[in-house]
Amino acid sequence: MKALVLAGGTGTRLRPFSYSMPKQLIPIANRPVLLHCLDNVKDAGVTEVGVIVGDRGDEIRALVGDGADLGLRITYIHQECPLGLAHTVAVAADFLGDDDFLMYLGDNMLLGGVREQAERFRSRRPAAQVVTVQVPDPRAFGVVELDGYGRVTRLVEKPAQPRSDLALIGVYFFTAAVHEAVAAIEPSARGELEITDALQWLLEQGHAVDAERYRGYWKDTGRFEDVLECNREYLDGLPPRVQGTVDADSTVQGPVVIEPGAQVVRSQLIGPLIVGAGSVVTDSRIGPHTSVGRDCLLAGAGMEYSITLDGVSVRGVRGIHGSLIGRSASVASAELDGTAGTRHRLVIGDHTSVEVAA
Ligand code: DAU
Repeated sequence: MKALVLAGGTGTRLRPFSYSMPKQLIPIANRPVLLHCLDNVKDAGVTEVGVIVGDRGDEIRALVGDGADLGLRITYIHQECPLGLAHTVAVAADFLGDDDFLMYLGDNMLLGGVREQAERFRSRRPAAQVVTVQVPDPRAFGVVELDGYGRVTRLVEKPAQPRSDLALIGVYFFTAAVHEAVAAIEPSARGELEITDALQWLLEQGHAVDAERYRGYWKDTGRFEDVLECNREYLDGLPPRVQGTVDADSTVQGPVVIEPGAQVVRSQLIGPLIVGAGSVVTDSRIGPHTSVGRDCLLAGAGMEYSITLDGVSVRGVRGIHGSLIGRSASVASAELDGTAGTRHRLVIGDHTSVEVAA
């Protein structure tokens, strides 16, 4: 079995981050989502991987390389325009050949992995196998309808009035039968070749499409609230590890990961929490459920339930909560330049959101 991992697309819901980086590189516990996906592909026993990339492919190639570090053999497949999930199957046709394959959306986090699902597919080999999760509002997802015996009767992409609460999650297993389906379908109302329509086509042609529930934690990290929530969940399960230094004037409560070269001075750390390699934290109170990226500088900072990407500096600002701070961004208190209470100085990119106390 091969894998097709999707790391193209636009990521409009993750603006402003997706202006400067592919959304699949947003970190969960300081590891890009795409690498978590590739870990799961490897764990499912698949090593031959095609990665779909769009115009942000260079950054993805720079991170993942030929896959040897991950124990994978990676082939990059360029998709000119993000014309839909089924379109990526057509673009990857030469790479896939007649092999069975696992299609994995590069912005989906599945904390329990997909090994069991892969084993089931290998032993049963239906034309396609999908994985579902029950969600309160399925309108943003592909939706699966089942009959009383648990057999798939219909699949619809983002229905306005869903007839089931079972959302398709971003992991699909296919035999080569899918290629005929992809060739037969037409673009949807939003102009994309939908994989959900290809699955529906298979069903209508009498092919077996199996669906199973995912028991582990799953999150589509397409929106920033989901990134924070997923980060919290992941940190909750992360084994503690201190490879950097924490001085005697600091306190540590709960599980923390301090990466190599990180220094913590006169600070209060409340796990679960991760401090990235080379970061310096002084006179701060950090955590719980916070990831500090690499080479950050936090001085007199207070931060919980947040993520800072690499190279961030926060000086003299406490009370940061539910925040995602982009690469090399700087947040500083006006008190440091003597203008406190009189003005806020903000340099803010497009589609950014900031809340300040008036
Ligand atoms: O997260 C699960 C949902 O993923 C499913 O419930 C839906 O049925 C499925 O269509 C998909 O919906 P999204 O709207 O979330 O898909 P998105 O456009 O975010 O694309 C998913 C991933 O695939 C993302 O990493 C970008 C990549 N992609 C997307 C398109 C449309 C490509 O590489 N090429 C593309 O043409």
